[in-house]
Formats: sequence, C-alpha cells, structure tokens
Amino acid sequence: MVYTEKDKRYKRYTVTSALPYANGPVHIGHLAGVYVPADVYARYLRSQGEEVVFIGGSDEHGVPITIKARKEGVTPQDIVDRYHGIIKESFRRLGISFDIYSRTSSPMHHETAAAFFKKLHDEGKFVEKVSQQYYDEEAGQFLADRYITGTCPRCGNEHAYGDQCEACGTSLNATDLVNPKSALSGAKPVLKETRHWFLPLDKDEPWLRQWILEAHKGDWKVNVYGQCKSWIDAGLQPRAVTRDLEWGVHVPLPDADGKVLYVWFDAPIGYISFTRELFGDDWEKWWKSDDSKLVHFIGKDNIVFHCIIFPSMLHADGSYILPANVPANEFLNLEGDKISTSRNWAVWLHEYLDEFPGKQDVLRYTLCSNAPETKDNDFTWKDFQLKNNSELVAILGNFVNRTLVLTHKFYGGQVPACGPLTAVEEEVVKELASFPERIGRSIETYRLREALAELMNLARLGNKYLTDTEPWKLAKSDPARTATVMNLSLQICANLAILCEPFLPFTAEKLSRMLGMEPQGWACAGTHTLLPEGHTIHQPELLFEQISDETIQAQVDKLLKTKEQNALDAWQPAAVKENVTIDDFGRMDIRVGTILECTKVPKADKLLQFRLDDGMGGRTIVSGIAKYYPEPEKLVGRQVCFIANFPPRKLKGVESQGMILSAEDKDGHLILLTPSDLAAPGCSIG
Ligand code: MF3
Ligand code: ZN
Repeated sequence: MVYTEKDKRYKRYTVTSALPYANGPVHIGHLAGVYVPADVYARYLRSQGEEVVFIGGSDEHGVPITIKARKEGVTPQDIVDRYHGIIKESFRRLGISFDIYSRTSSPMHHETAAAFFKKLHDEGKFVEKVSQQYYDEEAGQFLADRYITGTCPRCGNEHAYGDQCEACGTSLNATDLVNPKSALSGAKPVLKETRHWFLPLDKDEPWLRQWILEAHKGDWKVNVYGQCKSWIDAGLQPRAVTRDLEWGVHVPLPDADGKVLYVWFDAPIGYISFTRELFGDDWEKWWKSDDSKLVHFIGKDNIVFHCIIFPSMLHADGSYILPANVPANEFLNLEGDKISTSRNWAVWLHEYLDEFPGKQDVLRYTLCSNAPETKDNDFTWKDFQLKNNSELVAILGNFVNRTLVLTHKFYGGQVPACGPLTAVEEEVVKELASFPERIGRSIETYRLREALAELMNLARLGNKYLTDTEPWKLAKSDPARTATVMNLSLQICANLAILCEPFLPFTAEKLSRMLGMEPQGWACAGTHTLLPEGHTIHQPELLFEQISDETIQAQVDKLLKTKEQNALDAWQPAAVKENVTIDDFGRMDIRVGTILECTKVPKADKLLQFRLDDGMGGRTIVSGIAKYYPEPEKLVGRQVCFIANFPPRKLKGVESQGMILSAEDKDGHLILLTPSDLAAPGCSIG
C-alpha cells in the first residue's frame, strides 16, 4: 500500500531520471541531485509491490559533444561511445536500478523522436519561421547554441553561450549576445537567413498556468514552482525546436537537409523511446494511461525543460499524460566550490568505485543525507568520513553487530523465544510499527533526507533498547526476559533489512543474508514477527568499517592537486609594463657577482644572507628566497646578477647592499639568474 491519499488512483509509476550528457563521466553532483533520489524512489515503490518502470539513458546529441569531438579529432559517435560505456557501468556498480539504461543515438530513439516531430508537424502544431541566425563564413556553418559565445547582456559575463549564460542562469538567444564570436574559428559571425520550426509556447500559457500554478500549487516543490511561475509570468515565447547541425536526429521532412531536432526536443523523447525499447508493443500504458504516475527526477537547471517545454510537446501531441511531479533538486558543491567538469573539480563516480571498493552504500548514504533538496549543499570529505564513522558504523552497524554477536553467544545463532512483553517492550513494538509509514510518506513526498534520518532513528531505537535492557548482564539473572530482548532486537534488525533497501541496497542484501531472510516487501515491515523462533542466523560480519584519516587526507590531497593544476593551466605571463627609455634603464646598475658565502638569516624563515665577490671588495645582500633554496651552502661558487646601486637597508638586523635578481615561475617559485658562462665578478649587465 502506498500512503499518499492523492495517489490512490495510480496503478503504475513511470519514473525517469535526467539523461546525462555523454561528454564526461558522472560525478557526485549528478548523483545527489538526480540518480540517488530517483533510485530510492523506484526501489521503494517496487518494495511496495507497485508496478514501476525506472528509465535512464545517455543524452548523446547537442553541441558540447560535437565541440569535444572536434577538439580531440574524433567523431561525436566516438565521444558518446566512450562516455556512455563509462556512465552506464558506473551506475550499475552503484546499484542504480534502472530497468533500462539506453542512449539517444540508438535507431529506436531516432525513429521515435522523428515520428514525434512529424506528427506535430503534420497536425500543424509548429510555426515555421525564417529568421536571421549567426553563420561562420570561415567554417561554412551555422552557429547553434554553444557554437557561439559572447558577452551576456544581463550580467556582462564574457563567456556566455548562444543558448545560456551560466553565470546568471539566463536562457538566451544567440542574437542577444554582445560581441558574438564563433567557437569554431573565433571569427565574428554574420547573420544569415534560415528556416526553422517553432513550438508556439505563447499559446500554451493559459493551460500551463492552470496546470502548474493552480493544480500543482502545494504539491510541487517550492523551487520548482517558483521557477515555473517566473517563466510563465515573464511571458512565454515561441521556441525553435530545430537547428542547423549535422549531429542529431535529422528533421524528417523534405528540404530539411543539414537540419536536426534541437537536443532539448529529442532528449526527453528518449524517456519514451527507451520505454518502447524495453516493452515493445506494450509500452503505451506507461505514457498514455491516466492511472500511470509520471515523475521526472532532475537537477534545477532542467526545470523549464521538464515543466514547460516537454509538457507542451506532450500536450501538443494530445495522447500523453503529463508529469504528476518534477522533484528537482538544487546543486551540490564540492569542498565549497561549484562542481565543474572542465576544471576537473568533482568526485567522479567511476574513480570513487575503484578507490572505495565495497563502499557503494557509504556514498549513497552520504549523498542522500546531504541531498540538496531545498538549497545548494556542500560535499566535504570530512563530512563523508563523519557520516560513515559516527552514523553508519556507530549507529546502524553497531546495533546489528551487537545483536547478532549476542545471539550467537547466547543461543548458538538461533532466534530465541519472545516471552510476555513488559511496558518497555510494548513501547518499542509500538514505535517499530510506525516506521514503515513514516519513512514511506517522506519518500513519497520526495523528502529523502528526512526518510533516511527516520531509518537511522529505527537503528537508534534498537541501540537504546539494548543499552537500557543490558541483555549481556540480564542473561545471568533473567534468561526468559533476555530471550525476549534478543528476539525483539533481531526483529528490529530484520525490519532494518527491509526498510534500508531503497537507500542502502548492498547493506540490505548483506543483512538479509546474515539473518537468513528471504527478500520481503515494505508491507511486511513494522511487525515483530519477521523471524520465527528457532530460525537460524548466520555468522555476523561487519556491515561498515571505519574510514581512516589517511584515506580522507589522500582524497583531500587529490583535490588540492587539482586546484594547483588549474592555477597552472590558467597562468599567463604578466602584462607588459608601461614603456621606459634607454636612459631609464641606464640608471640601473646591474652586475654579476660570485657567491662566497650563503646562510640563513637567524629568526627569519624567508631570508638568505649572501656574501658576494663583486670585484670591488665584496658586499652583503639579503634576499627573500630561502624557501626555494633549502640548502644555501650549496650555492657557494655560483654566480648571480644583482642591482648594485640600491641604497643600503637593514633587514632583520643585517645591512643589505643591493638586490639579487630572480625570475618568478608559473607556480610562484623564485629562480636565481646565473650567467651561462663564467663572468668576471663586478662586470656590468646591459
Ligand atoms: N542532458 C541534460 C543535462 O544533463 C538532461 C537531459 S534530460 C532529458 O542537463 F529530458 F532531456 F532527457
Ligand atoms: Zn549572464
């Protein structure tokens, strides 16, 4: 039974998760925002015995993929083949339980998307318009979406794209950009006429307003509702659904060579084509039957496409249901910075799985308990460690382990008899009974953090019960009650095995195996009769293990390296200074000297004290390069260049008579300048 009143009429659930672009691997931001919540929801519904299909796949069209292919000198198909494989495999390893994970480059998808377009076209649902679009004369190509960059007219960001400014989130038309530039050649593009098909969203406004702003007020999340409202209130504009490109689903009309469907037109149709791929002729009930509940799991940058544009497409067709809910999440940051594929600022799923074998559920737990449901959130490795060590290990793992170890110790691994319940037990049994519904309601209303917190409260209840009753002591004085305590604790473990499954499927499996339980559905939970008296349980193994400081430090170091690498990649030589005259230069007295002595200046970690042979009786110079020359004595004999006519000044009590020249490298390191051949000490440089 599913609890939400409103949902009673639904017979089946069509659950989709945004199709990730196949131009990079999946990271923790994708997981926390979309895939972990969607998977928890789908697993929960299955456990409830509901009919559910969970759809996923790769979004393999769109300009970023073709740009990446061009950069690497390979085909777009090569790019998507590579990443589709990595993404699909990493989802599988994390236990994301898609019923199908397909891809939009498949023939079935091309056929479905083309037919969808053709039907709307033939029924006159599009407006055909000739308009001026940017064209790169050097490359001989129209510049759709990200092929064009320029300055955002709203916020002044100089790296805005033809379809969107990532700095301020505004959705743009290429012609809105100030100083447009071709991403292909860097050339200034020219405007050229081209014909396209538009979805007249302006005409959809009345029913969209009614459907979203009235009918879904209160049951859609506030962030989702708010974004929809501001779009609708700003006035919807016709939206082009075709592009002048080669890579994508070709427009299925005569005279449409070189035109493909806009990626945001074809990708959501992927949900439909993948359902067809999975069910063959039996697919329609998932999409065309009022008793199916359609739920889209997405990130906040996808809201308008799933709440306004895709519904308008479905509505224009007329035979489809509309999403019942679109529980979009906000973004997850990493150690305080925005996750970024191009800056490699991410925790990549496939790397995590390799580096933390057997710890899929730790990641699932951390991301779910920290999911950015109502606001952006931050992932830190310290927090990951804390959640593992002080929640999974100390609460859930500890309760299960104590119970199983004691059962083996006292009863040779057999479930003891449950005797009469005292008031304490009555209370525990009553509380236990309330968990399935509490957790279930939270999941059904997309409050997964709350649902997961409730699950941990059940483990806490178990821990407290053991701590209060102390069966390890009680065993001597009251064997009958001890048996009851252990029986009830085992029943709580069995409940945990059922209720943790949507969140922690690997743990659920392991725990069920240890308890010798057959898989059971949500409806069985809440009772204290799951394990019969005399039932044999297996030897306990630890469900979770501590994660050490060293392991965490290694991950933090990896991120620090990324930061350094990014800084180096971004490095550019300083701008050239204002012009000077030869006379200006001539006033500087620069000479060569030979190092006679070099020592650290006491109580100054940055300074080295040099004694130079300057050909004029010698001089002392203090220089702030100690950090880069940790063995100063090794510099003796080397020649350096120095400025000879600076007035002397005192540094940490030492008089410095000039300045030694050095170069500042990319990473800030100072490097002494040495003549390439031996020069007479005191000779002038110029
Ligand atoms: N590829 C898109 C993104 O990563 C999501 C596409 S969702 C779909 O933002 F509905 F279009 F498939
Ligand atoms: Zn902007």
